[in-house]
Formats: sequence, C-alpha cells, structure tokens
Amino acid sequence: MIKIAPSILSADFSKLGEEITSITEAGADMIHIDVMDGMFVPNISFGPVVIKSIRDKSNLCFDVHLMIENPERYIDEFVKAGADLITVHAESTTHLHRTIQQIKAHGVKAAVSLNPATSVESLKYIIDELDMVLLMSVNPGFGGQKFIPSTLEKIKEVRSMNANIDIQVDGGITDKTVKGCIEAGANVFVAGSYVFSGNYKERIESLKK
Ligand code: DX5
Ligand code: ZN
Repeated sequence: MIKIAPSILSADFSKLGEEITSITEAGADMIHIDVMDGMFVPNISFGPVVIKSIRDKSNLCFDVHLMIENPERYIDEFVKAGADLITVHAESTTHLHRTIQQIKAHGVKAAVSLNPATSVESLKYIIDELDMVLLMSVNPGFGGQKFIPSTLEKIKEVRSMNANIDIQVDGGITDKTVKGCIEAGANVFVAGSYVFSGNYKERIESLKK
C-alpha cells in the first residue's frame, strides 16, 4: 500500500496549525516533520517545541526526520513532543544500534535514513531492527530540489535485503518521479513542494495513482 507523507517544511509557517489540519483532511497518511540543526545539514528548521504545538491538530502519524548531529541527545525530547516515528541518519550517530534501541525503548517506531552517497551496506546489521528505511533522493537540507536518479538502484537493493520493510523516499518526489520509485519497490513517499504548491487533495491523489 502506498503512503504519502507531506513534508511541512513547504507549509506556510505563519499558519502552521491550519496547514496541518488541511493536509490531514486532504488525505495525507503521515505528517513528515523535518528537523534541521544547521550542523548535519546547512539549514535550521524547528525543534520539539514547535512539534508539541501542532500535535493536537492531527491524529496522523508524526513522522519525525532528524537531520541533526548526535540525535541520541534529543530522542527523549522528540518522543515527549509527540513523535510516533523517529528517523535518524546513519551518518549522524556513532552508535547507530544503540540509538535505534533508545527510540524503540519509548515504544515509538524507528527508522534509519541514508544520504544519497551512503551505501545500503550500512543497513546490513540493523535493518531487521527497523520499522522503515528512508532513502534520501536529494542531499538533505532544503525542499524543492531535483530527484537523484541513482536512488532507484538503492531502493531495489534495500528491497532485496528485506521484502516487508517500509521504504520511504524523500526529496524531489512528484507525479513524474514517484512511478519509478514504486516500480523499484518503495511504498512511502515524502512530498513537500509538490503537495504544497497545488491543491493538496489533488496532489496527494496524483501521487497515489
Ligand atoms: C529535505 C527534507 C525533505 C524535503 C522534501 O532535506 O528531508 O523532507 O522537505 O522536499 P521536496 O519534496 O520539495 O523535495
Ligand atoms: Zn525529510
């Protein structure tokens, strides 16, 4: 089953609460929340306080994508703020296995993300512990970038490692790029600029078609 996770990085922050309500009513399956620290990625977004303030605007899964150095420092804070699923980057933490256990100890779902240049080999000893793998199809940090085609090969490789795991793709997803990703074996799609630059419901439906 295909799931769409609109990234609120492309929402209008001056009315974020209304945006969460609208995107929920438009048929989103999850809310993708991009947390950036200005260190792991060259941009700063928002943290737990903002997530907590929008928690009561939607019953959907809060899919929190941590693009921060040493995310283990803040896992507990993001759980308290309302995260249902926490994704950490393999490149951001020395003790990835421990960080995943820390997330799971809170009873929330755990995922690992890989940057475009990181090999799927780094998932080999952790994939069976995970609820989802997130493959970045752009270099993380900004919305509105172009999809990197080598992601398709990576999706196939991860799918051959695990037949059932959710594979999420993030970056440059549109009605054009989603198709190849589905064929390669991915089933969860983050879409920021594509969904928020049109009619939300129509855009979400066009991704599922
Ligand atoms: C990029 C973020 C993405 C971003 C996607 O660092 O992780 O979630 O918001 O935006 P689009 O869909 O516009 O590429
Ligand atoms: Zn993201």
